[in-house]
Amino acid sequence: NLKACLFDLDGVIVDTAKYHYIAWRQIAEELGFEFTERHNERLKGVSRQRSLEILLEIGGITLPAEEMAKLAERKNNLYLELIRRMTPEEILPGAQEFLKACWAAGYKTALATASRNAALILELLQIGSLFDVVMDGNKVSRTKPDPEVFLNCARDLRVPPAACAVFEDAEAGIEAAVSANMLAIGIGDPAILHHADLVVPGLASLSIEILRQAANKKIS
Ligand code: G6P
Ligand code: MG
Repeated sequence: NLKACLFDLDGVIVDTAKYHYIAWRQIAEELGFEFTERHNERLKGVSRQRSLEILLEIGGITLPAEEMAKLAERKNNLYLELIRRMTPEEILPGAQEFLKACWAAGYKTALATASRNAALILELLQIGSLFDVVMDGNKVSRTKPDPEVFLNCARDLRVPPAACAVFEDAEAGIEAAVSANMLAIGIGDPAILHHADLVVPGLASLSIEILRQAANKKIS
């Protein structure tokens, strides 16, 4: 029986995924290689540090740790510049409505993200009060696909992992949800999120009824 809904932030609640991509693409360009949208899928859901490692791997570049730290900081500054003027209008369609429907249905809610900018984004979007628990990149040591972020949410919400549904746009996030033994709802492309229990284009296409059906199908 479903008791809690755990939401990824970037690409699920708000379209910051595009800003992460713009910032990383700029870094790649400065390093002299092309960084495509397909490459970018590998960066979704994973920490800043791990994203940089993957980016450099794609470019076939190795750098000393200090250089990497500078690049990570530079990427974050580019990203912060892009999101600074974000308003509640950039909340993805249906996200707020679905969160409220979760509350009305008696489900607990959590934000489960690798981002260290989550507090700022919640403030810009003014939706912090819709989450019982906020588990972000400052509180988690292992990045998705490790299930740590989701298991921490279940622990803090005091519900068993099997009673949780995860909403994720990233391949790594779906893998993490599956290893946490949670219902994995993919937001995006079924061809990419093929390990999800159900994939929808966005939270606007979901209802509590559809969610319950997916949960029942998984158990039976
Ligand atoms: C999310 C995004 C990733 C991003 C990560 C870290 O998981 O999907 O693309 O790299 O957060 O975000 P941050 O805001 O800490 O750089
Ligand atoms: Mg995401």
